[in-house]
Amino acid sequence: MLAAISYSLRTADNMREGKIGVAILGLGTVGTGVAEILSQNRAMIFNRSGVDLELKKVLVRDPHKKREIELLPEVYAKNIEEILQDEEIGIVVELMGGLHPAKEYIVKALKAKKAVVTANKAVLANYAPELFQLARENNVPLYYEASVAGGIPLIQPLTESLVGNNINSVMGIINGTTNYILTKMSNEARSFTEVLKEAQELGYAEADPSADVDGLDAAHKLTVLVSLAFDTHIPLSDIYCEGIRTIDTMDIRFARDFGYGIKLLAIGKKTPSGIEARVHPTLIPLNHPLASVNDAFNAVFVNSQEVGELMFYGRGAGRYPTASAVVGDIVSAGRILNGIGTTLSRKFAKGRAVPIAETKGSFYVRLMVEDRPGVLGDIAYILGQNGVSVASVIQEGRAHDQVPLVFVTHEVKQGDLAKSIKNISELACVKEVANVIRVEKGE
Ligand SMILES: NC(=O)c1ccc[n+]([C@@H]2O[C@H](COP(=O)([O-])OP(=O)(O)OC[C@H]3O[C@@H](n4cnc5c(N)ncnc54)[C@H](OP(=O)(O)O)[C@@H]3O)[C@@H](O)[C@H]2O)c1
Repeated sequence: MLAAISYSLRTADNMREGKIGVAILGLGTVGTGVAEILSQNRAMIFNRSGVDLELKKVLVRDPHKKREIELLPEVYAKNIEEILQDEEIGIVVELMGGLHPAKEYIVKALKAKKAVVTANKAVLANYAPELFQLARENNVPLYYEASVAGGIPLIQPLTESLVGNNINSVMGIINGTTNYILTKMSNEARSFTEVLKEAQELGYAEADPSADVDGLDAAHKLTVLVSLAFDTHIPLSDIYCEGIRTIDTMDIRFARDFGYGIKLLAIGKKTPSGIEARVHPTLIPLNHPLASVNDAFNAVFVNSQEVGELMFYGRGAGRYPTASAVVGDIVSAGRILNGIGTTLSRKFAKGRAVPIAETKGSFYVRLMVEDRPGVLGDIAYILGQNGVSVASVIQEGRAHDQVPLVFVTHEVKQGDLAKSIKNISELACVKEVANVIRVEKGE
């Protein structure tokens, strides 16, 4: 594999006209995969696309670090300027991650009229309008297929194949770490803390897992999905975000009794009140396709007026799945630079999400209550006063002082439910409001 890379770089000049130099910023998990695919599959890519891509430069933090890939020493750039000034480089691929200097390097590359490919959802979530504006002004493509759901072709289908569709909703499992944790908790009846620890030991979760388990990573990606689905950029700060730390194996068991699985879903929906954009643990019917998406797999379920329901499923991370998406973007950018492809220049309006308290839905509620007659009546009275009606109830036990009382509501405004839950929490018979989780029917 390594020999092949050096070989392909040495034989670069044997390839046809229209050769495009590529620079990769970052040679970590994904960058290494991209460098390998570009080098090993160069002839195949040329035959299929008419674009001859030469890996000309890479930029890393530490050029002396031992790498999993062997590149000729001259391939390592001293700094970003060396790449920007190289006229043979047409495409800059940002795979460093983080906000800074990734964002500044993307800006510089666009201003230098280089096409840019990035997998960086954090940069897009924070700076998409500015970056797309710059790309338009400089008349160069800016592609980002790998930024959401890693290896799954999703951005291009949403941008191009579904261009004639009015999308009603996008619902996705777009964080592999949390899906892995929830799957293990569900299949093995183990606690969140125990499974998280194991996931960290196996390298599936970061030492600091908060971006994943608290939902921020999924929120970053949801900004990208929402903009494509509804032509509107919603600021990250508007995205309601709730993670999976509070999910207990008891909730998973009760959800199953009601006929649901629990998944961390990122949801974008067009409603009569506006665009909803939210990330939270969700009860989803066991017979919904998203309920069967397990382990670290990702899936995005799209509902559109024209095509109906679609589901995109696959690996949302990992060296080669993610590199596969990045290389697809590099080839698309190369085709445009060579004048044999086109790109759809999308414009996104600036918009706001519907405040979470205004959104409507059905909810699963687990209370820990005193085990005595009349408790259910007291709770039902408060729910009734706030216009909350209950669809199903499970009251368990008689063995302990505290027993779980679990119910699923009919559709209610989140703010109204929150008010009644506050009142319920003040009842002497209620020991704890253990969990409130939104239910999606899955349309
Ligand atoms: N990993 C995945 O499965 C996955 C999936 C989807 C999207 N992504 C996205 O892909 C991007 C890359 O992720 P990754 O996992 O490949 O990251 P990574 O393994 O941490 O690699 C980052 C690379 O960037 C280089 N780098 C960092 N800061 C730099 C700077 N200031 N100047 C020059 N080089 C710098 C590092 O250099 P050194 O090697 O010298 O330290 C390293 O080679 C991120 O935006 C991530 O969100 C990753």
